[in-house]
Amino acid sequence: MTDYPTLTLNDDRQIPQLGFGTYKIEEDEAPQAVKTALDVGYWLVDTAAVYGNERVVGKGVGDWSDIFLQTKIWNESQGYDRTLKAADKCLERLGRDHVDMLLIHWPCPEKDLFVDTWKAFIELRDQGKAKSIGVSNFREQDLKRIIDETGVTPALNQIELHPSFQQRELRKVHDDLGIVTQSWSPLGQGEGLDAGAIKDIADETGQPTSAVVLRWHLQHGLVPIPKSTGRDHIEQNFAALAFELSDDQMARIDALDDAGGRMGPYPAEFNG
Ligand SMILES: NC(=O)c1ccc[n+]([C@@H]2O[C@H](COP(=O)([O-])OP(=O)(O)OC[C@H]3O[C@@H](n4cnc5c(N)ncnc54)[C@H](OP(=O)(O)O)[C@@H]3O)[C@@H](O)[C@H]2O)c1
Repeated sequence: MTDYPTLTLNDDRQIPQLGFGTYKIEEDEAPQAVKTALDVGYWLVDTAAVYGNERVVGKGVGDWSDIFLQTKIWNESQGYDRTLKAADKCLERLGRDHVDMLLIHWPCPEKDLFVDTWKAFIELRDQGKAKSIGVSNFREQDLKRIIDETGVTPALNQIELHPSFQQRELRKVHDDLGIVTQSWSPLGQGEGLDAGAIKDIADETGQPTSAVVLRWHLQHGLVPIPKSTGRDHIEQNFAALAFELSDDQMARIDALDDAGGRMGPYPAEFNG
């Protein structure tokens, strides 16, 4: 992974710091989009059982055996036995005997099954089917509960995070617990790219607005996983690895934080 930034997880494994998201990439476009991303140089690919594209994402990744591949167990598969079975199905669809990172997609507090699900994840890690294990959309209390009840801290938490929703409190919790923060919708689903400060910084640096936003994630020690289907955008996003933002430019993006900027569901309420 020459010149590709990585972070060290709490299980001592390395995770590439820029990834490729595949949510809403349709079955027919996924193999090409993933191949393009790998061709451009991405080392991490994120999918999920619920995206319905694991089979084609697996095909797109093909023989690139050293790609960091992660998937997520969907809410209906929570619970110890169901999770073990669901993980086997993920592996079968992906065409692999293991993934690099397996995530619980949502805590679903009303179901109250995430501790049992986490116990199955520990078993899957012991069996080598998941090299690292983590969670997604977990709140501070959810994280503390699985740690208290199992003694195993997730390697990462994948959460909604973009300049207009910066999640500073949860990031601090992650830092204190030794959990890597992975940013979903890192570009604000493409909607935040027209903000004045972002456009100004793009002009100052001569970089695409998307690369400016992704660079901000990288310099904060986050792992952004932007999604795109077209080569132009995939290349623009990858440009984030090749320049730096000044402290002043970082501060101007920090100032875009908005407590009401959440775009996705509330983890406390999402139990679907
Ligand atoms: N754990 C969870 O609950 C959860 C939830 C949501 C997402 N995710 C993960 O996070 C990944 C990323 O999130 P996301 O897809 O919601 O949002 P995102 O990556 O912030 O934004 C994707 C949108 O931005 C556009 N875009 C990408 N690059 C661009 C560029 N250079 N210039 C202009 N527009 C650009 C894309 O359009 P084009 O395709 O046309 O480029 C798409 O409409 C997902 O794919 C998924 O893997 C996880």
